[in-house]
Amino acid sequence: MLLGILKETAPGETRVALLPENLKSLIAQGIMVAVESGAGRAAGASDEAYAATGATVTGDRPSILGEADLIPVVNAPSASDQALLKSGSAVIGFLRPLDAPAALATAIALHVTLFSMELVPRISRAQSMDALSSMATVAGYKAVINAAGILPRLFPMLMTAAGTIPPARVFVIGAGVAGLQAIATARRLGAVVEAYDVRAAAGEQVRSLGAKFLDVDLGGINTEGGGGYAAELSEEALDRGRDLIARTASHSDVIVTTAQVPGRPAPRLIRRDAVQAMRSGSVVVDIAAPAGGNCELTIPGLTQTLGGVTLMAPLNLPAECPVDASALYARNILNFLGLIVKKGELGIDMADEVLAGACVAHKGSPVNPRVAKLLETSIALT
Ligand code: NAI
Repeated sequence: MLLGILKETAPGETRVALLPENLKSLIAQGIMVAVESGAGRAAGASDEAYAATGATVTGDRPSILGEADLIPVVNAPSASDQALLKSGSAVIGFLRPLDAPAALATAIALHVTLFSMELVPRISRAQSMDALSSMATVAGYKAVINAAGILPRLFPMLMTAAGTIPPARVFVIGAGVAGLQAIATARRLGAVVEAYDVRAAAGEQVRSLGAKFLDVDLGGINTEGGGGYAAELSEEALDRGRDLIARTASHSDVIVTTAQVPGRPAPRLIRRDAVQAMRSGSVVVDIAAPAGGNCELTIPGLTQTLGGVTLMAPLNLPAECPVDASALYARNILNFLGLIVKKGELGIDMADEVLAGACVAHKGSPVNPRVAKLLETSIALT
């Protein structure tokens, strides 16, 4: 069996799906590995390091696409790359099956089995494959570091002979994986941190990190969807959150906002008036930008200065930490490969709930019912 590692082509992407240190166990099973030259360069992995593991390094991308049985990726291959894939091969990565299902149509038609890391069920057995959590952890950290880098103030309280500097005030919206890492990072830098989440269960975790949890009375409605995620809220419930956010924004130096509802556009929680109420020099980092953003002024991918407030809407924060983001992602991928590679051969058992959950398409048909429905709609529209 041949496993291919490609150089990612998405603009700004620096991560790689597998690092040289991940290849030992695969090669020991008799798997051949072909690596596209330069695949790991931005993540600190040279061609020589891959070659030293026994992998073949080549500049011939089309041959990897056409000959590999298994291709772990970070982002979905482009349609022209998909057209070269071998029928019956498998591709695993962040394939965005719910955001852009039609972009996978070429691979599906070629009977390529597609596994999406976004769809790996969040059950304990699959925790080691939870790439969403790995990347959210990196994003939460980096958002705070980036904000600290441009805030014209210090994060920690300083008591010096020249006087006392008060600590920065950081407000984190959405205390899931990214939010909790943002809180932990801001606390380590010495900021005073407040956080808000619709899930009451997040309160204890927020407090355990030394931050203050802000509660909103949402009238006892159910705010939890399945699997620990938030449910989509009514406009009335969202409004109560928006009011709290506007009040808190007025005394915050930094807002890191991470609120998301799976498969839906990010909730618009930060109104224009909340940004206008912030002091000049304050910073908002909208981590939900890839899903449209939590701030109504967000333009995904752009950094804007609005009335002295910097609003950042990064689309790929993990790519700003490529070494460790790749290390974490690659371990998630390697653990996933453990489910589909048996004694050096591809063996896909769809009775496994992790595989069934993560599978976008197999043998030419969509497997995930949500993806199947979305594909029907997109085909009907074209
Ligand atoms: P996410 O990225 O979908 O959302 C981030 C946060 O935004 C969530 O905490 C959510 O409650 C919050 N949010 C959504 N709408 C909001 C609104 N209108 N106002 C304020 N906050 C809002 O979620 P993430 O971070 O991927 O995971 C969320 C939770 O899922 C975790 O905290 C954990 O409880 C659970 N989880 C479970 C895992 C497992 O293996 N069992 C693994 C990872 C997460």
